[in-house]
Amino acid sequence: MSDIELKVKEIQDSAIEALKSADGLEKLNEIRVAFLGKKGSLTQFLKSMKTVAPEDRPKVGKWVNDTRFAIEEKMEETKKKLDAEKMERQLASEEIDVTLPAKMKFIGHRHPNTIALEEVERIFVGMGYEVIEGPEIEYDDYNFTKLNIPANHPAKDEQDTFYITKDILLRTQTSPVQARVMEQGKLPIRMISPGRVFRSDEVDATHSPSFHQIEGLVVDKNITFADLKGTLDVFAKELFGPETKTKFRPHHFPFTEPSAEVDVSCFKCGGKGCRFCKGSGWIEILGCGMVHPHVLEMCGIDPDVYTGFAFGVGLERIALLKYEIDDMRLLYENDVRFLKQF
Ligand code: DAH
Repeated sequence: MSDIELKVKEIQDSAIEALKSADGLEKLNEIRVAFLGKKGSLTQFLKSMKTVAPEDRPKVGKWVNDTRFAIEEKMEETKKKLDAEKMERQLASEEIDVTLPAKMKFIGHRHPNTIALEEVERIFVGMGYEVIEGPEIEYDDYNFTKLNIPANHPAKDEQDTFYITKDILLRTQTSPVQARVMEQGKLPIRMISPGRVFRSDEVDATHSPSFHQIEGLVVDKNITFADLKGTLDVFAKELFGPETKTKFRPHHFPFTEPSAEVDVSCFKCGGKGCRFCKGSGWIEILGCGMVHPHVLEMCGIDPDVYTGFAFGVGLERIALLKYEIDDMRLLYENDVRFLKQF
């Protein structure tokens, strides 16, 4: 082997040796410059061809070209290898573990109060009632005076509340909506009015300073106590089951005359008496009565032509009974683990 051939072979070998240790594209480029670049060893060698005898030039030219080709081929191969390794590393670092549990979407749940209210609304809307809401911040006049509870009436004391001014308060009952609707003078009236009410009560298992009521009002010609009894009997049977019986106990409310409290037969024991109904067989659910003629008059309705009945139900009371919840405070904590059970 001639000196020239040896020299070319040496360049090729050292290029291939260098490529073996190339660990990235940058290094690869350095090698390309060092061997094949303008000042690279193979190019430099080509320049020295001038010294080669003319008859040897084609042979030497072929060696140089073969060498360039061999180095380029090895470079291409190394580049492919490095690219593949890079991709491999990237895939490994960005690996997706398809066995991981998916992110759970937590969907809320309707509150037992809402479920109970929708049930009550369904029953009354089915009997042709409208649902009308009134303001939570109310005039003393609507909350008390127009409901036959004058300034010094003891009933006012039982319903102590939060006053905003001397004349404006947080309503203690949904009954003021009765006065508001009657005043509008559109007769006949058949409506229920659900909403939040307030009293300055301490929190315990059966009391809260803020709770909900559903008011009912019917005003028309020839409305009698029999209509009231029939309506509330249908309501109780729809809500607590067809076996349910109702009992009307005489009571007093300033805005109804006569007035009554209504008990339903215990839906747990069927009226025999159990822990749920405290042994009596009956559970109290609402207050009601015939709208007091004086209330009709104060709201611009002629009591000689029109009569009406009204009732007021505690929404929480219904929810607690229906779902057998023994502490009202649970209804206000909004713990999803509790809410999800209904
Ligand atoms: N508003 C009364 C209360 O909070 C409940 C009530 C009783 C409403 C009799 C009525 C009714 O409409 O006729 O105690």
